[in-house]
Amino acid sequence: MTRLAVSAPGKAFLIGEYAVLAGATALVTAVGRRAVAADCDDPDRPPASALTEAAYAHVRQFLSESTGTKAPGPLTSVDTGSFAAGARKLGLGSSAAAVAAVVGFHLAEAGHDLEDPAVRAIALRLAQAAHAQVQGGGSGADVACAVLGGTIAFTRGEAPVPVAHPAWLHIGFFDAGAPADTASFVQQVRAAGERDPAAHAAATAQLRRAAELFRGGYDSTDADVGLTAIRDAVALHNDGLRALQRLSDAPIVTPTIATIVDQAARMGLAAKPSGAGGGDLVVVFAARQADLDLLAERLHREHGLAAIGRLPVAAPGLRRDERPPLSSRMSGFFRLGVDGRRDAVAAATHIPRDRFAALDPGSLDLGSADNLIENVIGTLELPLAVATNFRINGRDFLVPMAVEEASVVAAASNAAKMIRAGGGFFARSDPPWMIAQVQLTAPRAGEPAPQPAVAAIHAARGDLLALADSAHPRLVARGGGARDLLVRVLAPDMLVVDVVVDCQDAMGANLLNTIAEVLAPRLSDMTGWTAGLRILSNLADRRRAHVTCRVPPGALAGRGFSGAAAAAGIASASRFAELDPYRAATHNKGVMNGVDAVALATGQDWRAIEAGAHAYAGLTGAYRPLATWRLDPEGWLCGAISLPAAVGVVGGATKVHPAARLALEILGATSGAELGQVMAAVGLASNLAALRALATEGIQRGHMSLHARSVAVGAGAQGAEVDLLVHRLVESAEIKHDRAVLLLHELRSESR
Ligand code: MEV
Repeated sequence: MTRLAVSAPGKAFLIGEYAVLAGATALVTAVGRRAVAADCDDPDRPPASALTEAAYAHVRQFLSESTGTKAPGPLTSVDTGSFAAGARKLGLGSSAAAVAAVVGFHLAEAGHDLEDPAVRAIALRLAQAAHAQVQGGGSGADVACAVLGGTIAFTRGEAPVPVAHPAWLHIGFFDAGAPADTASFVQQVRAAGERDPAAHAAATAQLRRAAELFRGGYDSTDADVGLTAIRDAVALHNDGLRALQRLSDAPIVTPTIATIVDQAARMGLAAKPSGAGGGDLVVVFAARQADLDLLAERLHREHGLAAIGRLPVAAPGLRRDERPPLSSRMSGFFRLGVDGRRDAVAAATHIPRDRFAALDPGSLDLGSADNLIENVIGTLELPLAVATNFRINGRDFLVPMAVEEASVVAAASNAAKMIRAGGGFFARSDPPWMIAQVQLTAPRAGEPAPQPAVAAIHAARGDLLALADSAHPRLVARGGGARDLLVRVLAPDMLVVDVVVDCQDAMGANLLNTIAEVLAPRLSDMTGWTAGLRILSNLADRRRAHVTCRVPPGALAGRGFSGAAAAAGIASASRFAELDPYRAATHNKGVMNGVDAVALATGQDWRAIEAGAHAYAGLTGAYRPLATWRLDPEGWLCGAISLPAAVGVVGGATKVHPAARLALEILGATSGAELGQVMAAVGLASNLAALRALATEGIQRGHMSLHARSVAVGAGAQGAEVDLLVHRLVESAEIKHDRAVLLLHELRSESR
């Protein structure tokens, strides 16, 4: 169990990253991906590195010189898993965050208060010294940001100055692919400066002017004035970068970065590389989150480029974490009884133990059930379990699952362990956009032609979107609302108007239906066509969770088969499902084993999720597998799933069902997007488990031994007895409690 955890944020340069090396002031903001130093006993915690050892040495030296403080314990481990994007780390300053977290941890451990500005100043000095000792070269802005948080104005050799982040400014982050080699870029630019000092000085002066102009915009309280200044500053900055690129030959503004910059400019936004360039992180500035979502949608649709979710900016600096990270590696969890498992989950999640009574049979009382639906005569109980080993975007989750089918939870947990060996799951989400539909039919069959009606609706687009927003002012206040409107001609006498709505953290069914109903009379009036159905679409293909993983073959090995053979078999099983809808249906049933179980446990509308998943699987005209697997050139198994995820953490059954509420708390998902990612990850894990069994020993054997295991434990087998008893039960082909008691008795008498 974790006793102390200290975390520090990553950072992104907003402006001034090259100019700061020549003495200008850069603006750097702390982002919501954190390095976490903790004294937990997770066997997967990363080992020490030169950087963490240097941080430890500096803080130990400091503590040994100060009077009245305790000596530090052994070097803490620090987890930077949340900075990963697939197999690589995003350029968000993970090493600076790691150094800051280690320093902060040992200062807190020695009794120092990390909120005290004097302690922060010490932490900054120690972290900067350690970082410079091991990494050298950089400006130190990243370390300052990791310690202080917020946004800082950073000038080399001067104390960093906190700057207020303007409330109107929204910042989006995009991954431009290839990682930048900051040190070599800086080196190339420096060498170019020596070759052609005048041209280098001109480019640097331009970058400095851009930083000053940007600061004016950032300090403005007026969104129009501020964004105009930021746009001009960013254009100047990008020109300066191109000049440096011409001088140095360092590929700072890659074609992918240029695509993002151009597309953003076409939409009136400003985009630039953050950091050295050469790929990696691109930062986009907008006055509305909706504009960033539209840009993300367009970049994905037209160029296959992905946004890095919604990253908080001006994040808190070094801090002691209230709820330390949990480890989902709970070895032997399945051997504990129900009470023991509740104890373990309560300890890991810090949820008071007595709250688990909400999971007792009958916790949904008849009165509440009677209020939920009509004609109630009772309630139906299902087992609620917790899947272990899940690690998504560097964070561990204990995943509640409600399902009646044996081995679904064990299989998902086992597969999650294999995936964990490759770093866990990497997930991202589309914005929470859903569609409200209004059906329009011609007054007479085939008459009039649809084009005038289509044109009238297009002409009134702005008014219609405003009308949609007026139906839900609270949604708009929370940052959601209508985003787009499309008209499709389904037949000469039938149109459909699709209104795209950002539902924020709600599943959205009610608000979408209201919007459709509010728009219908207006659409009918303006076109003369008759409004028919007014209802949401459950094909939530704009609100998908995308999850990938990469599994080392060794993790897939089993009794009687090698990891490489299993990996090849799984890739072949994936192809089978891609080629044959009859197989794809069963393949997707295995995916939904996991998805539905999480949906049910957390009180989601699982019929909507089922409908959306299968409609999405058939969207291309052929019914396709939701999850696919490939071997990469190193023989690792790469899995991917995209799943419509119309789920929310507010409203619906999450409000009324006490078990669903507690399940959501155990999961600790903070947004609908995160819940969708967990569901997709569990679907991918369930699919991996099924394909691995099918491609090797067959499903029956695996099912049998899992069933035998729970029967063996139920009969009282302990420790090494469990495996022996499972073996005998499977051999006997009679996996029953009475048989297990008998065989266990025999086993024990043999060993006496
Ligand atoms: C059984 O619940 C699910 C499987 O049929 C899935 C599959 O065949 O991939 C094992």
